[in-house]
Amino acid sequence: MPGAIHAEGLVKTFGDVTALDGVDLDVPEGTVLGLLGPNGAGKTTTVRVLTTLLRPDSGTATVAGVDVLAHPNEVRRSIGLSGQFAAVDEYLTGRENLQMVGQLYQMKARAAKTRADELLERFRLDDAADRPAKTYSGGMRRRLDLAAALVVAPPVMFMDEPTTGLDPRNRQALWDVIKELVSGGTTLLLTTQYLEEADHLAHDIAVVDHGRVIARGTSDQLKERTGGERVEVVVHDRDAIAPARAVLARYGPGERGLDDVSVEDHTRRLTVPVTGGAKLLAEVIRDLDAVGVEIDDIGLRRPTLDDVFISLTGHAAAREQDDDNGANGLSGGADQPPARARKHRKEPGA
Ligand SMILES: Nc1ncnc2c1ncn2[C@@H]1O[C@H](COP(=O)(O)OP(=O)(O)O)[C@@H](O)[C@H]1O
Ligand SMILES: [Mg+2]
Repeated sequence: MPGAIHAEGLVKTFGDVTALDGVDLDVPEGTVLGLLGPNGAGKTTTVRVLTTLLRPDSGTATVAGVDVLAHPNEVRRSIGLSGQFAAVDEYLTGRENLQMVGQLYQMKARAAKTRADELLERFRLDDAADRPAKTYSGGMRRRLDLAAALVVAPPVMFMDEPTTGLDPRNRQALWDVIKELVSGGTTLLLTTQYLEEADHLAHDIAVVDHGRVIARGTSDQLKERTGGERVEVVVHDRDAIAPARAVLARYGPGERGLDDVSVEDHTRRLTVPVTGGAKLLAEVIRDLDAVGVEIDDIGLRRPTLDDVFISLTGHAAAREQDDDNGANGLSGGADQPPARARKHRKEPGA
């Protein structure tokens, strides 16, 4: 049975740019799919197609069981999209804006007020609640827009990089609201450049790059695929790197001999994928000691989602959350122009 969101073979080109190169997705009802990928991977284009804002060149999609291409209006009635349909009225206050959204969705006035107050507090807009939205900074506008998208829980929700540009506290507030939304039964497709966010919120992760889904699974499954645990050793002297490498290679998968062990010279750190868990560490320490290698540090670590991302895409994902300042402004919705997204990136050599 197809899930709440189902897409097959979505292709979209813009001139000679292939934004989507055959995207397949399936999101079971009541779950969160994290669409994870670097800038330009095709995340926003995917969201725009699924929310009926853009027609693909080919492929099919259904949302809440309704064909996106054949019945766009019907689809729009069952989805929420942060930044798009939550039209903030400049002249109304933050509180009035949120209450109006509630009433638009036929909430009782009292319930709409309670929900508005709750969201204003969570997104730290309570102090500004009775000022017109036009006096808000960019960061405040963005929070109001997110809050407006969260007044009522739609069956299917799309959020395109919702936390890009939010400070940690507002990010946490958004995560909390998202979790509540999902426990209430909403299906969510969330795009993000932040591995931590996908790890934290998503049941399933689809890694996209160059318009294709290149890997898919739970965070744990993806980490598993990248390899199990690694032993990391920091040796005391540079001279000890070669003998330590020979010892560690005996614990590796054995496919590439010494090359199973990766070496970072300047930190004197050696890493080897292993199977065998913590009791292995004692053996490694003993063997290193037997050949006279002195160590500063040794540990066992699991691959992180960073390791996964790097091994899949060949580059690191975005790491830093920007401050919630005015420059980031407005909504991070599906209509976010690439120029604004680029502001948040740190691309060496770009
Ligand atoms: N309206 C458009 N016109 C031309 N190129 C576009 C348009 N929208 C997206 N693209 C291009 O398609 C690719 C995917 O973009 P996008 O879906 O915005 O990626 P992401 O959201 O993952 O950063 C990029 O190369 C982008 O420049
Ligand atoms: Mg985007």
